[in-house]
Amino acid sequence: MSRLENARKIVLGASRAYYAHLGYYEERTYSETTNKRELDFLEFAFRTHAVHKVRDVLDIACGSGRHVLGLAHRGYKCTGQDYTPEQIKMAQARAKREGISVKLLQGDATKLKYESEFDAVLAIRILFLLPDDDSVLTCLRQVHRALKSGGILVCNVANPFYEKENWFSLKSIQQGTYFNEVCLPNMRFISIDQVQDFDSVHGVAWWQETHIIETADGTHIFRERERLRLFTYWDILHYLQAAGFKQIKCYPDWKIKPPKKPKAEWLVFVSRKD
Ligand SMILES: C[S@@+](CC[C@H](N)C(=O)[O-])C[C@H]1O[C@@H](n2cnc3c(N)ncnc32)[C@H](O)[C@@H]1O
Repeated sequence: MSRLENARKIVLGASRAYYAHLGYYEERTYSETTNKRELDFLEFAFRTHAVHKVRDVLDIACGSGRHVLGLAHRGYKCTGQDYTPEQIKMAQARAKREGISVKLLQGDATKLKYESEFDAVLAIRILFLLPDDDSVLTCLRQVHRALKSGGILVCNVANPFYEKENWFSLKSIQQGTYFNEVCLPNMRFISIDQVQDFDSVHGVAWWQETHIIETADGTHIFRERERLRLFTYWDILHYLQAAGFKQIKCYPDWKIKPPKKPKAEWLVFVSRKD
């Protein structure tokens, strides 16, 4: 049965089913240009911030493998893990299709058991999904332990102060709905993200996300209520320092040379274990 056939039913409140679907959606909507830009940035970070040549890379929430497979193609020895089995299966299928060798495992980003094994660890678009702030600190401490001395972590969060009409802007948190449409050959994705509740003390938002996928074989609808923690630059700096990281640098929107007055939708941090 194809993934789309699987997707026929409406999924309500089932996180893993939602992430399984999200992988399918993202595999098709993330452009080659975005993937290349992020991979080029990662190699820049490896060259610039790691003390030793980066060879072993761990991605703690690899999804369907955008980064971990891309880096394997560029010659790195990669391990990817994700807690959603469907995402791992998707990454494994892609690795097989593309004839590359990557270690892919199901695993929780807050239960990492590695010790001084990796030159670089990636935590891309995951920290704000962890259930609470203690889990963020636990995760970052475990990443620190997983790194070899001189190794680096690259992580990112969405910037809650991004000003444009965007789902994280204060305006949309207060007012509600973010609509996006992506048209691909034989396929149309519509996503509607609606803020249901916002805890302005702790910076937590609950979103109702609806994805509508129209294809030749029908319309598929996914719904999920998602909890997102909105971290500021200073929050992440604090957590990285508390986890033991040094030499922390932020690159707004994956830009190697940020402009003097940077604006950013994404805050990308590179930090080192001494
Ligand atoms: C927004 S996607 C990002 C995937 C990938 N890093 C990327 O940028 O394309 C978030 C991923 O985190 C995974 N995830 C959520 N909570 C997790 C956890 N506690 N441990 C490991 N993976 C988790 C989901 O299954 C999903 O694949």
